[in-house]
Amino acid sequence: QLLRQQAAEQYSSFRLPYQLDQVFLAADIADLMQFSGPDYPTVLGEGTNTIFLATQHKPVLRYLAKGISQHADTEHVLLHVEAGHNWHQLVSWTVEQQLWGLENLALIPGSVGAAPVQNIGAYGVELSDRCSYVDFYDWQRREVVRIPASECQFAYRDSIFKQQLQGRGVIVALGLTLSRQPLPVLDYPGLKALPKTASLQQIFETVIQIRQSKLPDYRQLPNCGSFFKNPVITERQFQLIRHGYPTLPGYPQADGVKVPAAWLIEQAGFKGVVVDNVGCYQKQPLVIVNYGLADSAPLLALIATIRSTVMRHFAIELEPEVRLLNSAGQHHVPA
Ligand code: EPU
Repeated sequence: QLLRQQAAEQYSSFRLPYQLDQVFLAADIADLMQFSGPDYPTVLGEGTNTIFLATQHKPVLRYLAKGISQHADTEHVLLHVEAGHNWHQLVSWTVEQQLWGLENLALIPGSVGAAPVQNIGAYGVELSDRCSYVDFYDWQRREVVRIPASECQFAYRDSIFKQQLQGRGVIVALGLTLSRQPLPVLDYPGLKALPKTASLQQIFETVIQIRQSKLPDYRQLPNCGSFFKNPVITERQFQLIRHGYPTLPGYPQADGVKVPAAWLIEQAGFKGVVVDNVGCYQKQPLVIVNYGLADSAPLLALIATIRSTVMRHFAIELEPEVRLLNSAGQHHVPA
């Protein structure tokens, strides 16, 4: 189905008042086969991590198939979920089915198909911990290719779908391996207080409570969740900054120390600051909220000021986590 002249506000939770010239709603693989190159549409899930910085002249495509099928061994269950399913509805359903594995990822906005692109993660679990394969419709080959998780190049908020395969096709389904046996992951601050015997339902509800207490609901306050990635810096730089700022939190990684972007933004003085109808949320300054923007200019100005201030104070470059698209559907990279 082809829709023309759509308000971008209905397709992005950041809700800038632009237009999408053409939106294709694809129901199944046959619908995808109608496209032949050289130009392919911009693939969109539910638009909770994509900001349209201008009217989109390039067509936008949403893949809507929502089926779930279940293949069980005794202890593990393999779910095959089509990409158009809503992520949180899937998580809720697995909790009802007493299947462990996704409960820490409750209430993450967006579709199942978007989940592997940035390898969604929260409260100590990443999609890559549960994913066994991704089914990818390749525009050029005009067929679905099954990519095992080991070849998806999953990393912190990164995957092959943001790299080599970006713009090359559509994620149409995921394989997820879940467990009938308890598999609690309670290491993250906020979940540590739960007993080791916590039920699946209890963990699920606690994650929902934490998220609701910190993160603004995009239906009331338009936003795209964390705006920047948490930067990973060298141990040496971490120690240097610690001299001046003994409270700097740090989480050791294989390749350095991850520091919270929220902390850097707060120290740089942006927590709760709103300029020209765009600002950093008071309870979680890593979230940028649209308080009534008429266009993207004040957003781009705020991004530039935050980045340059954090750079000046800490010599750390903040990289957007959100996908920012210009009028041609290309990724906007802040200068
Ligand atoms: N912090 C502050 N000031 C604040 C809030 C937080 O200094 O006002 C510091 C604190 O040191 C705190 C740390 O930031 O301990 C971490 O905060 P939080 O637990 O809220 O998590 P985050 O690192 O800001 C990441 C993800 C979230 C995910 C949470 C929970 C990224 C970019 N974001 O946020 O994901 O929900 O952890 O696991 O990795 C998203 O990607 O859109 C998203 C919301």
